[in-house]
Amino acid sequence: MAETVLSTGIRYETLPENYVRPPSDRPRLSEVVSEHIPLIDLGRSDTLQIIHEIGKACESHGFFQITNHGISLESMQKMARIAKEFFDMPLEEKMRFYSDDPSKKMRLSTSFNVKKEKVHNWRDYLRLHCYPLEEFVHEWPSPPSAFKDVVSTYCTEVRQLGFKLLELISESLGLERDYMEKVLGKQGQHMAINYYPPCPEPELTYGLPGHTDPNTITILLQDQHVAGLQVQRNGKWVAVDPHPNALVVNIGDQLQALSNGRYKSVWHRAVVNSNKERISIASFLCPANDAVIGPANPLTKEVSPAIYRNFTYDEYYKKFWSRNLDEEHCLELFRR
Ligand code: OGA
Ligand code: NI
Repeated sequence: MAETVLSTGIRYETLPENYVRPPSDRPRLSEVVSEHIPLIDLGRSDTLQIIHEIGKACESHGFFQITNHGISLESMQKMARIAKEFFDMPLEEKMRFYSDDPSKKMRLSTSFNVKKEKVHNWRDYLRLHCYPLEEFVHEWPSPPSAFKDVVSTYCTEVRQLGFKLLELISESLGLERDYMEKVLGKQGQHMAINYYPPCPEPELTYGLPGHTDPNTITILLQDQHVAGLQVQRNGKWVAVDPHPNALVVNIGDQLQALSNGRYKSVWHRAVVNSNKERISIASFLCPANDAVIGPANPLTKEVSPAIYRNFTYDEYYKKFWSRNLDEEHCLELFRR
């Protein structure tokens, strides 16, 4: 059991035993390949071309980076800075927010699901529910004094971007532009501010082990200087090197279900390194709890019958958190 967080200010000399993965389940960093994942410029005027590129990226990689996405550099930098400020606070200040209960709407925690897992991950995270803002913002941390302001602004911008992406994705599937928005209901929004401290033995552990995201779509603000995100492709792990001012987008399990398996919610992981901390900020759009998710009707004509059954997001999310991260794809449990 991890009793506390890793971001204590103490530099570890050796990796504690309960973080050591068995030899069959290690990152094998020397085998990681460096390929580019699609980079899509959202600022162009040719919308049809953008839609086409997004569709291709969702099918082939499940991941892409975007530039000219509408979130200002200033807002991204402020967000990254405030995240660091939070984790740099004294331990006592942070521990007021600590909880290992995944149902909490604001909590600092460590690893992934400390109560369930056997081996821990080299990560701390602050997880926030962000929509509707006015319901949650008052309980967010302060200090850092600018936290509520900066994070609210970033969240609002990211939400707009998320909806724009969902429209483009709907169109890329040949669906009505507002198809997703209608099916997904009043979408929730969560944020995970991930903090990966320098790790004495990065070959023996993960920041986050391979997983897919259970939600609709994820928008990740990566550390601009320290890489660590890797995505699976053709059985290999590919490093996603940060592109200047870009955001990383990935398809979550819900879009894989809605697209009847055409768009991929791809396995990805975060690895750590021995000399630099790394911070990433993941924003998750999540269907309303009572939204009924299943392959979109227009996509399930005779040629490609529905491969998943219908389910509510509530049912899915409970299943997801009842499991360990490194098990089979959660969506497999919802096949017809
Ligand atoms: C996540 C995630 C990757 C990263 O938070 O779900 O995949 O690079 N994060 O931190
Ligand atoms: Ni993820």
